[in-house]
Amino acid sequence: MSTSKLQIKNIDPLKISNICCIGAGYVGGPTMAVLANYCPNIKINVVDINSERIDKWNGELNELPIFEPGLDLIIKSVRKRNLFFSTDLRGSIKSADMIFISVNTPIKTKGIGAGQASDLSWVESSARQISKFAKGHTIVVEKSTLPVKTAEIIQSILGSYEDLDDEKTEKKTFSVISNPEFLAEGTAIENLKFPDRVLIGGEDQFAVDALKNIYLNWVKEEKIITTNLWSSELSKLIANAFLAQRISSINAVSMICESTGANIKEVSKAVGTDSRIGDKFLDSGPGFGGSCFKKDILNLVYICRSFSLNEVADYWEGVLLINDWQQERVYKTIVKKLYGNLNEKKILILGFAFKANTNDTRNSPSIDICNNLIKEGASLVINDPKVSEKEVFHSLNIYNLKKEQKNITFEKDIVQAANKADAIVILTDWEQYKNLNWEQIYKIMRKPAWVFDTRRVLSIETLKELKLNVWQLGNGSND
Ligand code: NAD
Ligand code: UGA
Repeated sequence: MSTSKLQIKNIDPLKISNICCIGAGYVGGPTMAVLANYCPNIKINVVDINSERIDKWNGELNELPIFEPGLDLIIKSVRKRNLFFSTDLRGSIKSADMIFISVNTPIKTKGIGAGQASDLSWVESSARQISKFAKGHTIVVEKSTLPVKTAEIIQSILGSYEDLDDEKTEKKTFSVISNPEFLAEGTAIENLKFPDRVLIGGEDQFAVDALKNIYLNWVKEEKIITTNLWSSELSKLIANAFLAQRISSINAVSMICESTGANIKEVSKAVGTDSRIGDKFLDSGPGFGGSCFKKDILNLVYICRSFSLNEVADYWEGVLLINDWQQERVYKTIVKKLYGNLNEKKILILGFAFKANTNDTRNSPSIDICNNLIKEGASLVINDPKVSEKEVFHSLNIYNLKKEQKNITFEKDIVQAANKADAIVILTDWEQYKNLNWEQIYKIMRKPAWVFDTRRVLSIETLKELKLNVWQLGNGSND
């Protein structure tokens, strides 16, 4: 790409004093809060088209739109000091020296590439707004996860701006750089404060240095990697593909353990202590969820196919196939153990978020597993410490279910929820599920009573003493 047409290299990298972030979601909110915390001299406006979300960011600290450990305390100290949330895109873009695009990039649902390619509508609309309202020279930072070469699209939109009537006199210029985000939900604040690395890709050294100088306020220089634009965009997709691949690998092994009498916990430890392999991301479970792994791998597969790299595409697609299979086999195991019939059976689901310490349910394995159990005729009671009843019902699309399938309730009190349940299924590894009073719970369940522990958070021996039937994922000593 030729970026030279639009670059002017006269910006002082030390003088970024006003930042705008488009998108007040799981990335935009926490990222800008941490940035505001470490850079008190920079004014940051986080803007969103969703006014309800913005109201929540400006509202009570215990009702922020997203739950992240430690986020409320940071928001408390920076909000209205140098961090502001609003729907004023025009004003915030106009005053910004640097603009982060942190909008959603889901998979296309229609047209060419439907089901695989990224839907860049929100990125495009952000770029159009920037091109319209920006003034002078503006550094545009891709924070969203994007297909390789998206910077070219953004650059093209920015380059064909139309002057607003009242601003005809001033020439606008832009530099586009990439700075993908690697935070994981549930540990976002920790990840942002102490990142493994910060990646900045770009051709305009002044723009790259401007962003680097901001990070240097709290990140050591050796942790800041600079690359060309395309390496940066691609590295983000590849990092997620590698992480997801490890989970699919260990999930595939979990089934071998169940078939052979081995135990996945022991195998993970034995394999992961090899320093070349490492012990992280080797926890088997009901399949990975979250808003990104699936969409980013689908996108990678789409990119590979568009370059006719079909073998490479098939390889990465395998990661998704194993993930779907893992979710399906959890549900099928439950049906099989409950005599192949779930009619008139009550199942308590412990955990609806896609992982612990978040209220996010996007692509949570709980959704497909619950939907399949509902189809089998089960009546479900769902518990989650942070996901609301409204969100659970919305994720399960309960309002569109047939009348006989609407046997779903939400219950905050686990003991109450377990009353007369035939089975309890642990789907999220929340800390509070690790120390339940199983003696009390077993007494009030309908017998024979089952527990399905897909996250392996329970001590199987203690439960078996109670005559509770236990199935633990990846445990070869299951009955
Ligand atoms: P999100 O859906 O939580 O937030 C995106 C926000 O952007 C929404 O509130 C939406 O209303 C807003 N938006 C969309 N178009 C807009 C526009 N034109 N003007 C103003 N606001 C607009 O998404 P997210 O989880 O924060 O993810 C954002 C990006 O970051 C995605 O590309 C994702 O892949 C990537 N990412 C996400 C995570 C994560 O943990 N969620 C981590 C790393 C990277
Ligand atoms: C993931 C990556 O970890 C982040 O680096 C990345 O920035 C982010 O995606 C993104 O691009 O959105 P996230 O999805 O928030 O972060 O959470 P993870 O901790 O990666 O967990 C994803 C899923 O994998 C969860 O369902 C989790 O339960 C599952 N998982 C994770 C396992 O089943 N086993 C493991 O060992 C680890």
